[in-house]
Amino acid sequence: MSTDPLLQPYTLKHLTLRNRIIVTSHEPAYPEDGMPTERYRAYHVERAKGGVALTMTAGSAAVSLDSPPVFNNVLAYKDEVVPWLKDLVDECHEHGAAVMIQLTHLGRRTRWDKGDWLPVIAPSHEREAAHRAFPKKMEDWDISRVIKDFADAAERMKAAGMDGIELEAYGHLLDQFASPLTNTLDEPYGGSLDNRMRFMLEVLGAIRERVGHQFIVGIRYTADEALPGGNGKAEGFEMTKRLKDSGLIDFLNVIRGHIDTDAGLTDVIPIQGMASAPHLDFAGEIRAATAFPTFHAARIPDVATARHAIATGKVDMVGMTRAHMTDPHLVRKIIEKREEDIRPCVGANYCLDRIYQGGAAFCIHNAATGRELTMPHVIPKSATRRKIVIVGAGPAGLEAARVAAERGHAVTVFEAASSAGGQIRLTAQSKRRQEMLSIIAWRVAQCEKLGVDLRYNAWADAAAVLAELPDVVLVATGGLPHTDVLTAGNDLVVSSWDIIAGDVKPGANVLVYDDAGDHAALQAAEVIAASGAKVEIMTPDRSFAPEVMAMNLVPYMRSLQKLDATFTVTYRLEEVHRDGNQLKAVIGSDYGGVRKERRYDQVVVNHGTIPLDELYFELKPLSRNLGAVSQADLIAGRPQSLAENPDGAFQLFRIGDAVAARNTHAAIYDGLRYAKDF
Ligand SMILES: Cc1cc2nc3c(=O)[nH]c(=O)nc-3n(C[C@H](O)[C@H](O)[C@H](O)COP(=O)(O)O)c2cc1C
Ligand code: SF4
Repeated sequence: MSTDPLLQPYTLKHLTLRNRIIVTSHEPAYPEDGMPTERYRAYHVERAKGGVALTMTAGSAAVSLDSPPVFNNVLAYKDEVVPWLKDLVDECHEHGAAVMIQLTHLGRRTRWDKGDWLPVIAPSHEREAAHRAFPKKMEDWDISRVIKDFADAAERMKAAGMDGIELEAYGHLLDQFASPLTNTLDEPYGGSLDNRMRFMLEVLGAIRERVGHQFIVGIRYTADEALPGGNGKAEGFEMTKRLKDSGLIDFLNVIRGHIDTDAGLTDVIPIQGMASAPHLDFAGEIRAATAFPTFHAARIPDVATARHAIATGKVDMVGMTRAHMTDPHLVRKIIEKREEDIRPCVGANYCLDRIYQGGAAFCIHNAATGRELTMPHVIPKSATRRKIVIVGAGPAGLEAARVAAERGHAVTVFEAASSAGGQIRLTAQSKRRQEMLSIIAWRVAQCEKLGVDLRYNAWADAAAVLAELPDVVLVATGGLPHTDVLTAGNDLVVSSWDIIAGDVKPGANVLVYDDAGDHAALQAAEVIAASGAKVEIMTPDRSFAPEVMAMNLVPYMRSLQKLDATFTVTYRLEEVHRDGNQLKAVIGSDYGGVRKERRYDQVVVNHGTIPLDELYFELKPLSRNLGAVSQADLIAGRPQSLAENPDGAFQLFRIGDAVAARNTHAAIYDGLRYAKDF
C-alpha cells in the first residue's frame, strides 16, 4: 500500500474514490448536436484508464432551453442524453473511475442568437461583458420552470448511472441570483442574502425531492467574487455555512473570483506566467471552517503541488484538469513511480481559448487529446524496426522523433542550432512564457531515454541525410520570418523575430505592423514598449491579434496598456521610405479611399514565416512517394502508402512550418500523425 497522500482512497458518502486526483468539469466542446457521442466517451475513458479517481463530465451541461450552449455543451434537458451518458459511465466504471456531471443554467452568460433564439434570462437586466446579451429580467414563471428543469436534468443523470452531480454557481444563473451585482429582483428572491440564496436552495431542494438523499450532489461555487459590490469573502463564508447547514449537498468545489470578463476568467483559471495554485489557501480556509468535503482546481499543474494540497489538508480532492488534457495517464505514472515521464501542462491555454473561438479543445502539445478515436496516447510498438531521419528539432521534429522511437525505430535527428526548440526558444524569450520550454525539455528527455541520436550543430544536406540510409525522412526545418509584404521599402523594415531575439535594438517611436495576428507581434511590441519606446500596433484586420485568443490576450493587455501601447485597426501598411533619420510609412486601407503618411523611426513587420524547404525539394525526386501525402489516410490515422516512384529508397514527408506557417499544435499534430504509423 502506497503512503503517497495523493494515492490514498477517499470516501464520499457511499462512494469510494480510488485516489485524491480528479478531473473537474470542463467542456471540451466535443458533443455532436449536444450529445456526448463516441469521441466524448473515448476522451473520458482514456482518463479513467489513466487512473484518475473521478472524472467530472460536461461542463455547464444545460438544464433548460433558454440556456443555449455558448461552446457546444451537453444538452441535459434532452432525454436522449441518457443512453449516451450511460455508455460513458459504464465504460469509465470498468476502468475504476467514478463519473459525475456538472449541471447549469447559464443565465445571462450566453446569447439569444444561439439555440432556439429564446431571450437570455437573469435576475436583472445587467448584461455580462463577455457574452454581451441584454437579459430578460426573470418572472415568477421563469423561476419555477428553471427549478423544475434542474430537477428533471438531475433525474436524467441519475438514470444514466452517474455517481453524482455538481451544480455550477460561479458566473451562471445560480450565483447571478446570489450576487448583489446581478440580482435586482424584489422579495422573495432579491434583497437580503437569505433572499438571494433562495433560488439556489430551492433548486437543490427540488433536486433532492427527485433524486433522493443517497445520490451525491455537490456545488461548484464562488466563495468570493473578488469584485467591488459583489459577494466578498465574508458573504462567501456565510453562503458556505448555509449550504452546508441545508443538508442538501455532499461536497463543496471552491472557486474564488468572477468570470464575467476575460480578465476575471483568467484570474479564476490562470494561464502560464501567472502564479501556481493561487486559490488553494483560500479553499483550505473553507475546508478548515466547514470540515466538509472540499474539492478545488486552479492551476495545480504539477504533482508536487497537488501532493502538497492533499498532504497539508487544504482540500480532500485536488483537481488536475488541464494537466489531464496534457497527460491522461498522469495518475498511472505516479503509481508506477515515473513522475518524470508525465507530459507537463505548460499553461498555454490553447485548450480553453479554442472553445471560446467556437472550436474543440485541443492541448497545445498533446495532439491525441480529443482525438482518442484516431490518435494514441500510448504509442504501440512497430513489428519492424526502421531507420528514421528527421531534420529539425523544433516541436514538430521532436514529437516525430519521440513517437518514432516509441515505435521502436532507430531515429536520428539533425539540428543546425546548438540546442533543440526552434521557434519555442523565441517564445520563451518572454519571461511570462518560459514554461513553453517544457514542451521541448520533456521531448528531449523522452528522446534521450528512448535512445534517439540527437545531433546538434549538425547541418543536414541531402548527402548527409542519404548517408544514413533512411527508410523514412521527415523534413521539419521550420521557417524564417516573411517580411516582404510591402510594395516599397521591404529592405527598411525589421521582423518581429529580430526584436524578440534581441538581434535588433528597439527604436524610440515604433510601428509594429501585424497582419499575421499571432503572438509574435504582441511579444515584439512588449519588448519595444518595455524599453521605454512609443509603440503603435497596426493591423488591417477588424481587431488586433485575432490569433491570440481571449485568455492569452489578458497578460499582454495588462502589460501593454500600462506601457501605453496604442492599437490601430483596419489600416494596411503599404510602403516605407527613408526620410532623413526617420521612416515615412504610407498607410492605406482595404476599405479604400484612404492614403496617409506617418513618421516612425522603426517599422517592424510580423507576417508569419516562409518555409525552409530547400532540403525537401532536393530529396523529393529521390523519394518513393515523391513527397506526396494521402490526405485521406492522414486524417483517418492510417499509414501512408503512396509510391509513385518505386525505385525510391525512402519515404519523404515534411511537417510543421516547413510546409506552411502554422502553430505549435499543428506542428506537434503533424509529428504525431506521421510518426505513429512508421
Ligand atoms: C476546455 C475547458 C473547459 C472548461 N469548462 C468548464 C465548465 O464548463 N465548467 C466549469 O466549472 N469549469 C470549466 N473549466 C475549468 C476547469 O474545471 C478547471 O477549473 C480549470 O481548468 C482549472 O483547473 P486546472 O488548472 O487543473 O486545469 C474548463 C476548463 C477547460 C480547460
Ligand atoms: S493547452 Fe496548455 S493549458 Fe491547455 S492542457 Fe495543454 S498544456 Fe495545459
